[in-house]
Amino acid sequence: MSAMSDTSDVLVVGGGIIGLVTAWRAAQSGLATAVVDSAPGGGAARVAAGMLAAVTELHYGEQTLLALNLASARRYPEFAAELTDATGHDLGYRRCGTLAVALDADDRAHLRELHAFQQRSGLAAEWLSGRDCRRLEPMLAPGVRGGLRVDGDHQIDPRRLAAALLAACERAGVVFHRSTAERLTVGRERATGVVTTGGATLAAGRVVLAAGSLSGRLKGVPAGALPPVRPVKGQVLRLAMLPGRPPLLNRTVRAVVRGNPLYLVPRADGELVVGATSEELGWDTTVTAGGVYELLRDAHELVPGITELPLTETLAGLRPGSPDNAPLLGPTALAGLLLATGHFRNGVLLTPVTGDVMAHVLTTGELPEEARPFAPGRFAAAPVPMEQPV
Ligand code: GLY
Repeated sequence: MSAMSDTSDVLVVGGGIIGLVTAWRAAQSGLATAVVDSAPGGGAARVAAGMLAAVTELHYGEQTLLALNLASARRYPEFAAELTDATGHDLGYRRCGTLAVALDADDRAHLRELHAFQQRSGLAAEWLSGRDCRRLEPMLAPGVRGGLRVDGDHQIDPRRLAAALLAACERAGVVFHRSTAERLTVGRERATGVVTTGGATLAAGRVVLAAGSLSGRLKGVPAGALPPVRPVKGQVLRLAMLPGRPPLLNRTVRAVVRGNPLYLVPRADGELVVGATSEELGWDTTVTAGGVYELLRDAHELVPGITELPLTETLAGLRPGSPDNAPLLGPTALAGLLLATGHFRNGVLLTPVTGDVMAHVLTTGELPEEARPFAPGRFAAAPVPMEQPV
């Protein structure tokens, strides 16, 4: 495929990390691949903290998703090394571990329950007293009542990950159409490509819809194939740890403060990411005084020294939520249209496994065993909970 061609074997709609990893792996598999996105490398990864937290983000009712999360977490070291080798990019991949702490008796009971659930699920997590938590992280509030040490939950910088995937795609020959896909084209009952907002027609053998929370809004997709994804807003803050001083934290610290999940993710380069709100407000991405206040108030309760740090950035992004909080991967009811979307809270974690699953299905026509529970057909009877595009 020439760089100017508008025909490809695979056209990926969406150039966030999920679209880019799909395109990279597809191109590596020998498929002529293109991506359509007005600003590839953007999307929710610009906001995300990048926790690879299969164990500390374990939720009741999500055991099926846990298997996929763990499969992806296991792939991360090799995936990160391959991506760095291919591009020379530092991904900010830190195997620093995570500490989930309790601030009061209720939190402690909740964390004890989570620990029991983790143990029943065969996951490695160690219970620590409050004193041991502070030995590990001396800047924690003196009132910390106990916590869970999870050395297997790591972090990566999603912005660096997106930049590296973009470079890897370019090196693998992926063609980028810097435009927005407006409508799917369908002929003889199969997807044949898209028309962009600029009126260009991009033809393809297969179309992969990987547009995050926007995936349900592509016009022309028949109702039975439209992914039931919705935007779930997350506000996130970035602070800078003080140069020349020991880092405020050495590992990711999480807590539930007054019922609100909170995390602080310290990067090796001195950035400290504090997140996140979870708000069902449609397409709103306003950073609100209330959101910033609550994150800072809760973070201050957990790590009082945080108020000394410069606040460098406030941003809101949209997680692509699905009805069961798990992604939609693989073929749809419309021939030639596949999905890689609905990753909700786990897009960064699920990036390696999504790339492998999508390359497998694009080259063989079959979903690999590990991805079968995530086939889009599981929602065949579910109504799409979004307003339909006009
Ligand atoms: N996984 C973190 C979040 O969605 O806020």
